[in-house]
Amino acid sequence: MEKLVIQGGKALSGTIPISGAKNAALPLMCTCLLTSEPVTLTNLPRLADITTLSDLLNHLGVTVTIAGGRRKNLQGRSLTFDGHDIHDTVAPYDMVRKMRASILVLGALVARMGEATVSLPGGCAIGNRPIDLHLKALEAIGATIELEHGYVRASAPNGLSGGTVRFPFVSVGATENILMAAALAKGKTTIENAAREPEIADLAKCLNAMGAKISGAGSETITIEGVANLKGTSHEVMPDRIEAGSYAVAALMTGGDVFLKGARAHDMQAALDTLVEAGGIVEVEATGVRVRSSGEIHGFNIVTHPFPGFPTDMQAQFMALAAIADGASVITEAIFENRFMHVPELSRMGADIAINGASATIRGVKDLVGAEVMATDLRASMGLALAGLVASGETTINRLYHLDRGYEHLEEKLRQVGAAVERLPS
Ligand code: EPZ
Repeated sequence: MEKLVIQGGKALSGTIPISGAKNAALPLMCTCLLTSEPVTLTNLPRLADITTLSDLLNHLGVTVTIAGGRRKNLQGRSLTFDGHDIHDTVAPYDMVRKMRASILVLGALVARMGEATVSLPGGCAIGNRPIDLHLKALEAIGATIELEHGYVRASAPNGLSGGTVRFPFVSVGATENILMAAALAKGKTTIENAAREPEIADLAKCLNAMGAKISGAGSETITIEGVANLKGTSHEVMPDRIEAGSYAVAALMTGGDVFLKGARAHDMQAALDTLVEAGGIVEVEATGVRVRSSGEIHGFNIVTHPFPGFPTDMQAQFMALAAIADGASVITEAIFENRFMHVPELSRMGADIAINGASATIRGVKDLVGAEVMATDLRASMGLALAGLVASGETTINRLYHLDRGYEHLEEKLRQVGAAVERLPS
């Protein structure tokens, strides 16, 4: 186990290169199951979740090879996923339990192989996160779904056939699963109330490059004309809008001036708008986004919402910002039922936060005080790291593996812009 030790009080200044998006990379990696030709992904971040999914794909028969990409200047890497020989269609519990996104192999596997058995993902720190929408969607295009002994088995021995999928509420993963499955279904599939996150458009762009016929990705209605088979391709993973947003908050909190190299403002407009409301100065440039402090931090209100609304993955980070604002803020978590795990630890650092159901009221305090804190889930951990950057004294964040799931080269990137942070064995 490792820990992050932060000496607070340094203003961040300089350029932070933004890595490829974890939440784009994971579904993109699953596209290799849809074709017998190799799929190369470039700008892949070096993250634990990418390794976890690579191991699962390898278990199914996919050959994963490094296609170059040195560690120089924190650039991403390129991996080639060759799924011509899928010799297993079971994703076992001991692999799936490590990462909920493993469920994203289900749609592609059943489309390509006619069957797939995936362990139910179980809950995680931020809620029980069922997969009912994934399963209903696959049934709508002809899959037979059976649940037994903690596994879900999807089968379509004669292939999938297009249909209409209406989501009662937005699900990113379910949209991605059905998008991949429908690409190989016979006939036309229409997805209504589809997720509009930028990662969906990135996935559709890759699938279309492989020969799929997808239109409307990024809007609430997506149409897929199924094709008999897909070919390989090479695709660059889009930049990580949540990583970029996290460092944007760090710039404002520390009174700094940071250029987020590679960030795409239109992927993160809701977060940037709230940052400006809170006192940030945001300048969109051709190659990235610059975020500066105006010297003040004002209170703000947030309700998390599917894209293009305020992203739930930025909620914890903005709560850290609210903790030191002059004035009060109200943050409502409307997507997950238990995504305030960072609150008790922020309170131990001196934050003044009152939770009332799905809403938290944060009264800004002048100073946070460094403490030893425990990371619980990926984005909560980042909220604690941000608080540590401004707290007086030393903050130690234990269980660093949570952060390593979603932030590539975290301490190097922060040190590059002046933070006093180091990774130590626990
Ligand atoms: C994706 O998770 C992201 N993960 C999450 O990011 C992100 O928080 C979430 O979308 C929302 O934007 C990846 O892309 C790998 P959902 P996903 O299906 O697909 C409920 C991070 O920190 N639901 O949009 O699992 C679910 O419980 C991670 O990077 C059902 O009820 O999210 C949740 O309350 C955390 N039934 C809501 O819908 C279903 O079948 C939204 O979930 C599916 C979901």
